[in-house]
Amino acid sequence: MLVLGFESSCDETGVAMVQTNAAAVPTLLAHALHSQIEMHQAFGGVVPELASRDHIRRVIPLTEQVMSGAGRTLADVDVVAFTRGPGLAGALLVGAGVACALAAALGKPVLGVHHLEGHLLSPFLSADPPEFPFVALLVSGGHTQLMRVQGVGHYELLGESIDDAAGEAFDKSAKLMGLPYPGGPALARLGDNGNPKAYALPRPLLRSSNLDFSFAGLKTAVLVQSQKMVAAGGVKRFEDLPIELHRDLAASTQAAIVEVLVKKSLTALKQTGLSRLVVAGGVGANRNLREQLNAECAKRHIRVHYPELHLCTDNGAMIAMAAAMRLQSGQQTASEVYAFDVKPRWPLDSIQIGR
Ligand code: KG4
Ligand code: ZN
Repeated sequence: MLVLGFESSCDETGVAMVQTNAAAVPTLLAHALHSQIEMHQAFGGVVPELASRDHIRRVIPLTEQVMSGAGRTLADVDVVAFTRGPGLAGALLVGAGVACALAAALGKPVLGVHHLEGHLLSPFLSADPPEFPFVALLVSGGHTQLMRVQGVGHYELLGESIDDAAGEAFDKSAKLMGLPYPGGPALARLGDNGNPKAYALPRPLLRSSNLDFSFAGLKTAVLVQSQKMVAAGGVKRFEDLPIELHRDLAASTQAAIVEVLVKKSLTALKQTGLSRLVVAGGVGANRNLREQLNAECAKRHIRVHYPELHLCTDNGAMIAMAAAMRLQSGQQTASEVYAFDVKPRWPLDSIQIGR
């Protein structure tokens, strides 16, 4: 079965084709991606209306690219999948509208996919796919969650951020340091060359036994620290301080976020008794997080799986893959109702199969 998938929940337009494989994990035949980062950079963040318009401009050329990359025609497509939510309503409507119109024209069914399920299953696109069950650390721009994953569609929320997500903590701290949007990767690059112990920043909820996170206080602590550094340095703006100080504050911020993510993941593994961890979402690309998780998990004989680096952030491949895995599990069928009813807010544990 051939699944064509569309992702348009935020600032990346992604299209991909995946083939199901009765005996094994579905295979990615082709995928194409356009990132809007450059367009939004001038505004310091995503402008929803511009995002929607750009998805409209990009989606057809990307689809043509995928069809020729996969060596298939639209007539070969069996199911059209799209990101139904969560995300920006207007942006989601572009992908949903295109997917439903295409499916209706082809006389094929559609399947709306949960964006976080796409991230969660994205490590199955890697050369070293995980096996169920596992603990998943989902760290995207808008979500930080620990889940117990028994199988496709069987997700139990173990803990989540009560305020900002880890990605937001990276992005907001980076903004305070004058780094361009999206700040996460820029802050990480800067921090990789600094001293992570230079400044003592808070590790919220680190010692609590539950698996919730809280990152909102961290950006306030980064703000206060940067103001102290500006005053001590006798300059007007943080940007005017020597680069070494930028590196040290970035390294200290990254260390605070990573330590919390690593410790909470280890606690989740201990509490569930599972010996496999899957890390997914944009922050999963963070090198420091990967190094520390690898080191701590190796000590405990725990296997860690990540998506390929280029599939950590949003893409169409994970959406086509999640749809294919749902269909292949036989627990869900695609629909011929082309309602394109998107869900900008949509908790992942509400899509439990059998509920
Ligand atoms: O999963 P994603 O592409 O989008 C959402 O679904 O939200 O995640 C984007 C987030 C942003 O906050 C971005 O700054 C962060 O992932 N990110 C990183 C890195 N690469 C992306 N954060 C830290 N280190 C990185 N290398
Ligand atoms: Zn995402």
